[in-house]
Amino acid sequence: MRGHVLLTVFTLCMLCSGAKAQLNPNIYAKSCPYLVLIVRRQVMNALKADTRMAASLIRLHFHDCFVNGCDASVLLDGDDSEKLAIPNLNSARGFEVIDTIKADVEYACPGVVSCADILTLAARDSVVLSGGPQWRVALGRTDGLVANQSSANNLPSPFEPLDAITAKFVAVGLNVADVVALSGAHTFGQAKCDVFSNRLFNFDGAGSPDATLETTLLSDLRTVCPAGGSGNQTAPLDRNSTYAFDNNYFKNLLEGKGLLSSDQILFSSDLAVNTTKRLVEAYSRSQYLFFRDFTRSMIKMGGITNLVNGSSGEVRKNCRVINN
Ligand code: HEM
Ligand SMILES: *[C@@H]1O[C@H](CO)[C@@H](O)[C@H](O)[C@H]1NC(C)=O
Ligand SMILES: *[C@@H]1O[C@H](CO)[C@@H](O)[C@H](O)[C@H]1NC(C)=O
Ligand SMILES: *[C@@H]1O[C@H](CO)[C@@H](O)[C@H](O)[C@H]1NC(C)=O
Ligand SMILES: *[C@@H]1O[C@H](CO)[C@@H](O)[C@H](O)[C@H]1NC(C)=O
Ligand SMILES: *[C@@H]1O[C@H](CO)[C@@H](O)[C@H](O)[C@H]1NC(C)=O
Repeated sequence: MRGHVLLTVFTLCMLCSGAKAQLNPNIYAKSCPYLVLIVRRQVMNALKADTRMAASLIRLHFHDCFVNGCDASVLLDGDDSEKLAIPNLNSARGFEVIDTIKADVEYACPGVVSCADILTLAARDSVVLSGGPQWRVALGRTDGLVANQSSANNLPSPFEPLDAITAKFVAVGLNVADVVALSGAHTFGQAKCDVFSNRLFNFDGAGSPDATLETTLLSDLRTVCPAGGSGNQTAPLDRNSTYAFDNNYFKNLLEGKGLLSSDQILFSSDLAVNTTKRLVEAYSRSQYLFFRDFTRSMIKMGGITNLVNGSSGEVRKNCRVINN
């Protein structure tokens, strides 16, 4: 009888470890007891120097997890570097901050904590330190051995329709509700004219997301991003509270003040009616609900594993290069 129970437990664990690595918030409790404090302190330092860095760090985590799973592939330099992919080039920020945290962590507990775990913790701390919700981060990710630039070029684009964006979330095990909750991260940070100036000058008719850009915001943005200007100027994703993590992003959408097309379509597109619009409305009314669902979706996103190689990988010494 007892043998039978043991065998069953054993079989179940074989299944669970085969499916994906088990993440656990206490995995470094003995091997790196101050990890969480070290990361928090360094993210605080980074934000003191540059408030926008909070937004940049969570975006880095998103771009990591969508390519080969959350394996720090986005941090690798080299020929196939994801840093050179269109969504990241001259856009992704925060690599030096992760280097600084990693150096501090290596000093305290050499060879123990993966870069992927550090990036996940830094993303969480960015939200907390900007006024958002707190949650416990499950740990134990390994760092991947390869980057994939073409896969990074396939990250969700601000120019895509809602069904295409949703399909990319579904491809990594997320769903349309996660699209809405996680898009709420556009409550802080900046975007370059390059990624929204197509909305400012060529209206293509009623019903298009362009037609729902509120007129005051539209004229302000035309000043920031003049036709034919450099696409490098930036505008806040959420003008009402540019560096605060709150639910103003969703209130903005109700007023036609989403900056990116991919933001506004969550409320204004035909497809939104039966899919995302109601959630946008709910989050605009309740910051509590947004924080609750955002937390759940962040935990889900942080659990995306490499669909090809599972948990095989290493603990990188330097986040920019694989060991040896
Ligand atoms: C739904 C699909 C998404 C699209 C199409 C998208 C697209 C973009 C684009 C084009 C930018 C501006 C980049 C630049 O101009 O340099 C941006 C910024 C940002 N994104 Fe997203 N994003 C999406 C989802 C997410 C998710 C899931 C997160 C995190 C959970 C996120 C967090 C951010 C943050 C915080 C910024 C500002 C970064 C900064 O100021 O450095 N985004 N996003
Ligand atoms: C990169 O990802 C694409 C799918 O987006 C896949 O077809 C390709 O084999 C991957 N390349 C490497 C080097 O893993
Ligand atoms: C935008 O900035 C990048 C990096 O600094 C630069 O390479 C590029 O030429 C700039 N683009 C324009 C149009 O000024
Ligand atoms: C943002 O601020 C403007 C001007 O103060 C106000 O009219 C608008 O209702 C605010 N929107 C949100 C989402 O708080
Ligand atoms: C939304 O769903 C309703 C009921 O299923 C359907 O009649 C309507 O055509 C749908 N609207 C859109 C825009 O897909
Ligand atoms: C999987 O791991 C092998 C080496 O262990 C590597 O050659 C291959 O590129 C990896 N593929 C992905 C998608 O990470």
